[in-house]
Amino acid sequence: MFDQVEKAPPDPILGLTEAFRSDSNPQKVNLSVGVYKDAGGMTPVLESVKEAERRILDAQKSKSYVSPLSGEASYTTAVRSMIFGPGNSIDREKRAVTAHTPGGTGALRLAGDYLRQNHEGATIWMTDPTWANHPAVFDAAGVSTRRYGYFDSATGSLDFDHMMSDLDAVPAGDVVLLHGCCHNPTGVDPDPQQWTQIGQLLAARKAVPLVDLAYQGFAEGLEQDVAGVRNLCAQVPQLMISSSFSKNFALYCDRVGALTIVADAAGTAGNVLSQLKVCIRRSYSNPPAHGSSIVTTILDDAQLRKRWEGELAEMRDRINAMRRLLAQGLDERGVRLAESGNAFIERQKGMFSMTGLQKQHVEALRSEHSVYVVASGGRINVAGLTEANIGGVCNAFATVLGAKKTVAGLKTED
Ligand code: LMR
Repeated sequence: MFDQVEKAPPDPILGLTEAFRSDSNPQKVNLSVGVYKDAGGMTPVLESVKEAERRILDAQKSKSYVSPLSGEASYTTAVRSMIFGPGNSIDREKRAVTAHTPGGTGALRLAGDYLRQNHEGATIWMTDPTWANHPAVFDAAGVSTRRYGYFDSATGSLDFDHMMSDLDAVPAGDVVLLHGCCHNPTGVDPDPQQWTQIGQLLAARKAVPLVDLAYQGFAEGLEQDVAGVRNLCAQVPQLMISSSFSKNFALYCDRVGALTIVADAAGTAGNVLSQLKVCIRRSYSNPPAHGSSIVTTILDDAQLRKRWEGELAEMRDRINAMRRLLAQGLDERGVRLAESGNAFIERQKGMFSMTGLQKQHVEALRSEHSVYVVASGGRINVAGLTEANIGGVCNAFATVLGAKKTVAGLKTED
């Protein structure tokens, strides 16, 4: 049977890292996959994570299954506390349930499976553009998807009017996928007032938000970055939230995430959880425990938590410093990525920025300069830039875009 199988195209994001690894150019730079790099170009294990792992290994007595299969209460409670805040009313009223999933992608797929099996006909509306894997995950689950306007490429900012007029056409019972913060791929988020308006509109349309929360702590801070979700919770009676701890705990390969569903009553939430458990059992049966133990150990220990928050702030600050340097480096070389200039790079949040580079530029960056960026919209991972590589990256951009002026050796402001 296998000789009938055709070769699949490489993944638009992870496939680039495979190509990057086999590139022999010592100056190569990977700005494709969303993985944080420190100033030395490494993806470190956080010190708080190392310490949590030491404690877990010392105390571990068994590797039996996680029970219940939707996740242990210590983890699921910690997840909800990060989203809604400690002692929140949603938890007090037992209106939310959480399932522990393998990563944020696992949470999204679980949401897709749950919707397909329990809400036949519900369509998921996604921002245009969105993370390349979003449509693929829901497609694989058998849930149909549609797009709504989001990004204004002329200014590199949110096209709020377009967004609201598209959302005003969403039928009742459909699901609207929103990015909790650090929109992937644009780095453009709604402001607090806009979140309120979005919540009011979705409530009026009886549409259910699904918030993808993969970068909490990467925009402005742990609390600030969930202000939008909390705002939504005040407007709509029901919503879904997928959490990922790949980025904020740098636990990429440990696959730790969660799907939280808020209902309007405790009984309803319990029924939903029972259906999530059915989906989990049929899919991966039981979640992987190592990553969740790390997250729980850190969040439940005041000192470890403080250390982790410091490490998270360092990652955030470094990304923002790179944003400033990139905008400055491009300005100095006469490269303008948007009609309005490069200032949008500094306004955007999180790991990503859409450069607007066309297919031929992306191709030339890779083949002539060994600089790897995602083809769609020329998305770059700003967290892959370092003081050592940013000058070369800016030069490469200038060359492929045909800008005349090239400068080398940028330095940070401090
Ligand atoms: C990304 O968008 O690069 C990350 O979320 C990693 C991934 O799985 O695509």
